[in-house]
Amino acid sequence: MSEHTIKVSLCSTKKQKPNADQLQFGKIFTDHMFMMDYTEGVGWHDPQILPYGPISLDPSCVVFHYGQTVFEGLKAYVAKDGKVLLFRPEKNMERLNRSNDRLVIPQIDEELALTALKQLVALDKDWVPTAEGTSLYIRPFVIATQPYLGVAPSTKYKFMIIMSPVGAYYKEGLNPVKILVENEYVRTVKGGTGTAKTGGNYAASLKAQEKSENKGYSQVLWLDGKEHKYIEEVGSMNIFFKVNGTVITPELNGSILAGITRDSIIQLLKHWNVPVEERRISIEEIYQAHADGVLEEAFGTGTAAVISPVGQLLWNNESITLNNGETGPLSKKLYDTLTGIQYGKIEDPFGWTVEVK
Ligand code: COI
Repeated sequence: MSEHTIKVSLCSTKKQKPNADQLQFGKIFTDHMFMMDYTEGVGWHDPQILPYGPISLDPSCVVFHYGQTVFEGLKAYVAKDGKVLLFRPEKNMERLNRSNDRLVIPQIDEELALTALKQLVALDKDWVPTAEGTSLYIRPFVIATQPYLGVAPSTKYKFMIIMSPVGAYYKEGLNPVKILVENEYVRTVKGGTGTAKTGGNYAASLKAQEKSENKGYSQVLWLDGKEHKYIEEVGSMNIFFKVNGTVITPELNGSILAGITRDSIIQLLKHWNVPVEERRISIEEIYQAHADGVLEEAFGTGTAAVISPVGQLLWNNESITLNNGETGPLSKKLYDTLTGIQYGKIEDPFGWTVEVK
């Protein structure tokens, strides 16, 4: 454990909480946030919890110009007995440091980050919404704060954690989403920053996302950046297909984000003895499986998206409908089991949940 003590400054007035039925994704924030600074030669210092609010930054900060930043996403859930649970938070901190490494940002003490996260959630516990399907989304992130226009790793950073009570990420909820297979733009390539959770990957996705929305689709399915042939991931989630009884998902090939929900779903499927394969999957293979009548279901996985069934794919102007555009039985079972564990409704055989006390 690190020797840092987290300073706490409480807000003077608490904000009004939103109604549960009005919760959207990521639009309102809790009363407090966490912040810690890094200075070259000193290391990470001055961890503090303070009232949520704007921060002042020099317009020349590295993050504004060259995008040196990483982030994470996890959730806190209220169980029926009132306990507040986190889902595999240590995995987020491990991934944060892998992203830091890729973006040449100094490593963060994961134990300190977890302590700060738990302390912040405990302080704003009354912001964890209780209605079905709602949760408190937690966004840890790092930004490069050195005022400097040269292209070089920053000598100063801020690590912050903010939190937002949320409903479903997609307006469709657990209803299937329509996805456009993107042929023109790419998200990343092997050797790029695809495995890191960094803002630039998401900025690069916006043009294609806009295109898909203009065509009436919710998200983009990315193909590999070299051949436009192999399936990578969807805008805000990893992707799985059930073909002839076997669940397949793209392997972590060096350009895909290693989703924590993705890993949890693979573990659940193995636990149920459902055959699961992580391998290269071409979009042709999926269309062929559909033509052969063996493409049973598809679903996306992510912290924000949870399990999101795919009802339709559009690739090269050819649209296919999956499972009659309905939520498939495996997607439903995975959703119920995953959220059952996350909300403490069912036994957690994997020891994934962590109580915030
Ligand atoms: C998450 O699922 O937590 C994500 O980071 C996706 C986000 C870009 C909405």
